[in-house]
Amino acid sequence: MPRVADGSIPGGPRHVALIMDGNGRWAQQRGLPRTMGHREGVRALKRTIQAAPDFGIECLTVFGFSTENWSRPAEEVSDLMGLVRTYVANDLKRLERAGVRLRVLGRRTGLPDDIAAIVERAEQTTAHNDRFLLQVAFNYGGRADIVDAARKHLDRVLAGETGEALTEDILGAGLSTVGAPPVDVIVRTSGEQRLSNFLLWEAAYAELIYQNVLWPDYGPEALADVVTQYRNRDRRFGGVESATARVVG
Ligand code: IPE
Ligand code: IPE
Ligand code: MG
Repeated sequence: MPRVADGSIPGGPRHVALIMDGNGRWAQQRGLPRTMGHREGVRALKRTIQAAPDFGIECLTVFGFSTENWSRPAEEVSDLMGLVRTYVANDLKRLERAGVRLRVLGRRTGLPDDIAAIVERAEQTTAHNDRFLLQVAFNYGGRADIVDAARKHLDRVLAGETGEALTEDILGAGLSTVGAPPVDVIVRTSGEQRLSNFLLWEAAYAELIYQNVLWPDYGPEALADVVTQYRNRDRRFGGVESATARVVG
């Protein structure tokens, strides 16, 4: 298979970001509590992670909990926290064995102490893995992430460590996604067509795909549809020539 200069499979996508939406509606349609939708959503996430490398995807970023989701009923919030505990407890070993590096995007402050510790441990345990990058956005907001990145630079300026003016590169290096491949495509399930504060900076030239499937029904078929749609897009990045014209061998 020919490869582009950076080593990836031509056509991509290398990095898929998923707004996993529709758990509540999935449960509602079955007369079940919303919680059951979230539980089924975790199963869908596992299927999707497992299938991703088969499509040449190197990185998945999934939206698990937004800075705005704290406004949900306390019981639902606590259930979502509980799912993180069980997911990491049950799956960390498997992710580790599969060569997955897990990274959690978002503010640690505000998370229950035990969740912050679990996240820290999961990141440390998998830090050396480089086969696949799984980023889970949890207590994440795109605006908060941009503000935090700008503050990092400002703090360095105020401390006298640098006098450099803020640039896109400096800001990008302060984001929680630093080092991940560029986001090729942002997918939202459930039919809603908005970003809801997800990856605002990284979305600049990402393709947007909206799928009508509710997240608990997601899996390899839906992901295959994303890959096909993506490969039929013409990414011009403001220019006139297709980026795929750069295939070298
Ligand atoms: C997405 O499903 C999961 C989270 C936001 C945690 P929702 O819970 O938003 O489901 P709907 O949108 O109410 O159907
Ligand atoms: C976005 O979905 C957050 C996650 C998927 C975790 P929401 O369901 O919270 O977004 P809105 O309220 O429909 O914009
Ligand atoms: Mg929703």
